Amino acid sequence: MSIRMPLMAGNWKMHYTAAEAVALVEELKQGITRFHDREVVVAPTFTALPAVANALSGSPIRLAAQNCHWEKQGAYTGEISPPMLKDVGCHYVIIGHSERRQYFRETDQEVNLKAAALLAQGGKTLDVLAEQLGGGLSGLEAPPADRIVIAYEPIWAIGTGLTATTEQAQEAHAFIRERLVKWCNKTVANQIRILYGGSVKPDNVDALMAMPDIDGVLVGGASLKGPSFIRIVEFQE
Ligand code: PGA
Repeated sequence: MSIRMPLMAGNWKMHYTAAEAVALVEELKQGITRFHDREVVVAPTFTALPAVANALSGSPIRLAAQNCHWEKQGAYTGEISPPMLKDVGCHYVIIGHSERRQYFRETDQEVNLKAAALLAQGGKTLDVLAEQLGGGLSGLEAPPADRIVIAYEPIWAIGTGLTATTEQAQEAHAFIRERLVKWCNKTVANQIRILYGGSVKPDNVDALMAMPDIDGVLVGGASLKGPSFIRIVEFQE
């Protein structure tokens, strides 16, 4: 077994009220049995976080937010800060998702500020990279390996039903890991998990997870239904 614990994350994007999100979490709690050798994360909308955190109490499923601001507080209408997310029980925050870059004009510089703020307050980041390790992490001191997770998502594969071949994905992941060696060092780079994202489904997860540098998946559409996300989490080795 790899030194990197597989991480299976569901990004619910802008779906579900608090009650709907709790119903899905209850299904996942019932259906997922293999927690001992994998980490499971769900990322509901901000408004569902407190209810989902409550529903998850006592469960190993971890909570993530889908975005944050880089300041702790201040006059930033509509924004939510890392300490506020920690306060409602978030373990991870997804930053740098391509949908935020595309629709909300988020830049590498902003992603960089968010990563720095999260790491400074002791939070964990789940950084989503469009192509390769770019400006989002530049200039940051490399954190301990368990504080950062990288997700590689080819933009053309997100929500389209098209996935990279397992070989293409493996090649990209190996390339990212080489870049990580330059950013931190080989030992840490070998411990950092690199997730694949983009139309991951029950029928392609096993092949993806068999690749040596694919350490988990970030799942959008297929994480919205209990049975499909449960099957993804319980990928077959
Ligand atoms: P998808 O989304 O699984 O629906 O392609 C993945 C993501 O954007 O995180």
